[in-house]
Amino acid sequence: MTIKVSGLRKSFVSRGKHVLALDGVDLDIAQGEFVALLGPSGSGKSTVLNLIAGIESPTEGRITFFDSGGDEVTPKLGYMTQQDSLLPWKTALQNVALLSKVKGIGAASAEAAAKSWLEKMGLNGFQSHYPSELSGGMRKRVALAQLLAHQPDVLLLDEPFGALDAQLKLVMQDELLKVWDADKKTVLFVTHDLSEALTLADRVIVFTGRPGKIKLVLNVPLSRPRNVFKDRFTPQFQDCYQVLWDALDPASANAET
Ligand SMILES: Nc1ncnc2c1ncn2[C@@H]1O[C@H](COP(=O)(O)OP(=O)(O)OP(=O)(O)O)[C@@H](O)[C@H]1O
Ligand SMILES: [Mg+2]
Repeated sequence: MTIKVSGLRKSFVSRGKHVLALDGVDLDIAQGEFVALLGPSGSGKSTVLNLIAGIESPTEGRITFFDSGGDEVTPKLGYMTQQDSLLPWKTALQNVALLSKVKGIGAASAEAAAKSWLEKMGLNGFQSHYPSELSGGMRKRVALAQLLAHQPDVLLLDEPFGALDAQLKLVMQDELLKVWDADKKTVLFVTHDLSEALTLADRVIVFTGRPGKIKLVLNVPLSRPRNVFKDRFTPQFQDCYQVLWDALDPASANAET
């Protein structure tokens, strides 16, 4: 699935005032590409995902999806929002199996698949726990398992690992890269963590502060498969980190590409 975003502008009316959240964003995302979005708080990263997911409509501009043959299509999207959306009255296992059941897959195979996704997310033994009995990080992992069990063409992930401790974050990044390597879904991944963006992505897009515009596009030169635990200590990684760090400095010049 390729995604073409052109001339995207989005303004909101909030408390009687117009807020321009995005101002002219153009972005072509290739089939199977892993793209990370970085930028200060309020720069419109979640808004980009909401627009791609169709939850919000653009004020101006267009978002189009194409299959490998170049035909315009409606993709199957998997969206993990910044707030998780697990059903509180269902257990971890029931939450993960939910979407498969909605799709009409038999209960037994939906639950078997759900179990294996929960295992991959390191949640063995928590299948029968309700969301209120899980930590914030565990809930995030259940939400990710739910999303992956649904097998979407495009993954929209909004700070999915933000609540995790430093070690677990790396384990989850590694797990996500394995899943992505296996069937090369197109991924848009919002993060505030520069190392996370570099470790995971083919391309890192840095947004300016509000109104959000693209300030920098960095093609990550690190080879694949990535080593989540070791790549960060290489000079090449450190150089890229410096580039991103400078781009996020509010004092640095705009519209660099
Ligand atoms: N539904 C809405 N109604 C009014 N204003 C909104 C709405 N959604 C977003 N905004 C505004 O748009 C701007 C961009 O918000 P957005 O949530 O996209 O930022 P973000 O880059 O994801 O920030 P963060 O890193 O804090 O999550 C903010 O000023 C926010 O207040
Ligand atoms: Mg956000």
